[in-house]
Amino acid sequence: MELRKLKENIYWLGAVDWDRRLFDSLIPLPDGTSYNAYLVQGSEKTALLDTVDPSMADTLLFQLENVRTIDYLIAQHAEQDHSGVIPQVLVNYKNAKVVSTPKGKGMLMDLLNISEEKFITVEDGATLSLGDKNLEFIHTPWVHWPETMATYLREDGFLFSCDFFGSHIATTDLYVTDEGRVYEAAKRYYAEIMMPFRTIIQKNIEKVRERKITLIAPSHGPIYDRPNFIVDAYKEWSSESPKNIVVLPYVSMHGSTSKMVKYLVSVLAEKGVTVYQFDLAVTDIGKLAIALVDAATIVIGTPTVHVGPHPLVFYAAYLANALRPKLKFASVIGSYGWHSKAIEQISGLIPNLKVEILDPVICKGLPKEADFKALETLAATISEKHTQHNFK
Ligand code: FEO
Repeated sequence: MELRKLKENIYWLGAVDWDRRLFDSLIPLPDGTSYNAYLVQGSEKTALLDTVDPSMADTLLFQLENVRTIDYLIAQHAEQDHSGVIPQVLVNYKNAKVVSTPKGKGMLMDLLNISEEKFITVEDGATLSLGDKNLEFIHTPWVHWPETMATYLREDGFLFSCDFFGSHIATTDLYVTDEGRVYEAAKRYYAEIMMPFRTIIQKNIEKVRERKITLIAPSHGPIYDRPNFIVDAYKEWSSESPKNIVVLPYVSMHGSTSKMVKYLVSVLAEKGVTVYQFDLAVTDIGKLAIALVDAATIVIGTPTVHVGPHPLVFYAAYLANALRPKLKFASVIGSYGWHSKAIEQISGLIPNLKVEILDPVICKGLPKEADFKALETLAATISEKHTQHNFK
């Protein structure tokens, strides 16, 4: 794709990666992704904001073929999907300086072997004149690495936000055209990499909102020409108030746990609690992460394998613990044949979740009347707790 004009002397460049299906060899990308870079040409100087993933270096270098000068290469984030082609750009533009936060400089030197004299570091709020255009650098740590920053183009009110507000979505649309589709992709991205840093994200949102923003240009996914759409979504996702939602990841080997899950889901639904159930044997783990953004309660369903929980449950519990969602309650349901330490082992996997543990329900073999009664009690407790806390 050619470079595309956003406004006089401001261009989108980058690569649309339609076929990428995994990020970090971990995160599912059902809709592919894009690596967005931007070119801002002032009356005196030219800046390139970020690059692309090294796998798509040729695309960016082709787009730059007719760009005679780059004075500044703004590295908003050191992760290689944005910084990976900086060394090649520096070969072609020998006088270009890399502009980063002080932390970013160290990381870029470590990750890409860029030499120290190539850098200009910028403090929070520093500006850089391109002549008739001025860039302001806003340190936005932990979206999602410690060195991240955004760049505000003052004259036009454009916020270049890098991963912050981004979405993994491959599209030919330069701007958001289908807000529903982008909402889900952006929420998935938030859930997978931003959610653990919820508190600092709230601060970063307030910080960028001090400026008059006409457009948000992230480094993944389409550009927001209605910035409030994504800013409001981020405010809601990062708030501390969960909703009247139970997330129920589970595995069943011979049907006992599955019967318990079905019964619990049915009783919770009758009580007006929204439930998202995920069979971990087949689920897209990104969907589970999305559901965790708003949920008040997690109930983990597991059979017993060699006395402990099923390995897929280990994985899901580890992931939930790492993502630090705003959950308030947790419980375990499941089954065993002769002996189980599943509850103790799952409890040990989720120390980051600041949750109240609700009485688990573990049955021997198939669930019996007493087990179904216990599930009814668990559903009633969850519903009451959600009501008491006014989770809607
Ligand atoms: Fe899109 Fe954190 O890299």
